[in-house]
Amino acid sequence: MKVPFIDILRYEKNFYETVSEKTSALLKNGHFVGGPIVGEFESALKNYTQTEFAMGCANGTDAIQVALRAAGVQKDDKVIIPDMTFWATFEAVVNVGAIPYTVDVSKETLHLTTSAVKEAIEKFNPKAAIIVHLYGWACPDTAEIRKLCQDKGVVLIEDCAQAIGVKLNNESLLSHAFVATTSFYPAKVLGASGDAGGIFTKSSQVAQTAQKLINHGRTSHYEHGFIGWNSRLGAYEANFLNESLKHLEARLDSRRVVCEQYRTKIKNPALKFIAPASHVKENGYLSVALMTPESRPAFIEYLKKHDIGYGTVYPGAMSEQPGATGHIGGKISQGNADWIAKSVINLPCFAYMTQEEVDFVISTVNNYK
Ligand SMILES: Cc1ncc(COP(=O)(O)O)c(C=O)c1O
Repeated sequence: MKVPFIDILRYEKNFYETVSEKTSALLKNGHFVGGPIVGEFESALKNYTQTEFAMGCANGTDAIQVALRAAGVQKDDKVIIPDMTFWATFEAVVNVGAIPYTVDVSKETLHLTTSAVKEAIEKFNPKAAIIVHLYGWACPDTAEIRKLCQDKGVVLIEDCAQAIGVKLNNESLLSHAFVATTSFYPAKVLGASGDAGGIFTKSSQVAQTAQKLINHGRTSHYEHGFIGWNSRLGAYEANFLNESLKHLEARLDSRRVVCEQYRTKIKNPALKFIAPASHVKENGYLSVALMTPESRPAFIEYLKKHDIGYGTVYPGAMSEQPGATGHIGGKISQGNADWIAKSVINLPCFAYMTQEEVDFVISTVNNYK
């Protein structure tokens, strides 16, 4: 049996037909960019995430750039980010002309902690901070970090590219964020059929500026109040996402079951499964286990031999990337992000994985010596 790391084509019955029919209608009525379907999706997204303002844009990296700019981050401002994230978080800071400072994450929770953010605020005096909710979890210290940033006058942006559908204390993670962003890249839990992203905020001022930035800084059709760019969400993607959103909870439930089964049924001591904190409800984006860095290469070879896909999200710390040279302003590191990068292993997990596939992964991993 072959089990891929991810299969993005496990749609619900009639999903493909419904999307195709609605796409044909868009082709016929000429709604290619914008149009009612974008508004319809944005309103469904706002409702699902329980946010005040939700808007689509071209991709998750643009979403962070829009969020930074709309929240007032300017050239040469300092922005702290976790050392363990996807490179886009680092890139977005540099692309808006600001300077990234990386902060180490916890070896236990794999996320930023309040004390690390506090230390970084005291040391670097940043204008803004980005926390990244990885693996389909929420950073366990989110509430404390939000309060800390508010008290210290640091603008907080939350990169939720992997965290749509995550709950914190039984509420949508995004609902209390000042500004949050997401990615609808096809492999995300709410994936489009191409690139797309989203921006969420409680602030009407941030929302208004963001809306203008993603549309050439337009204040009216031919008046441009800002230097923005074109980061509009296309109508086809809005349509695909709108239909996907209707099935999202079922998709997330099926993923959550996979993660939970790995945690409870895999007994191999070579892997230590990590669960999200008890006040966090995961969305099942990724299953996360840690191994010793020395033992991981042989285990990966074993998975390959048995046709089981795997991930190592992410295989390198941000501050160690060659592209960081000349851009990074400073860092606080105990080497944790680097250690996690060498230790992490992700087993196959996607919506509607069959029980046969899950059982095959579990028994194969349990048989590994
Ligand atoms: C944590 C994180 N931030 C940002 C992004 C960037 O999103 P996109 O690929 O849509 O630009 C991703 C997507 O891979 C991500 O995982």
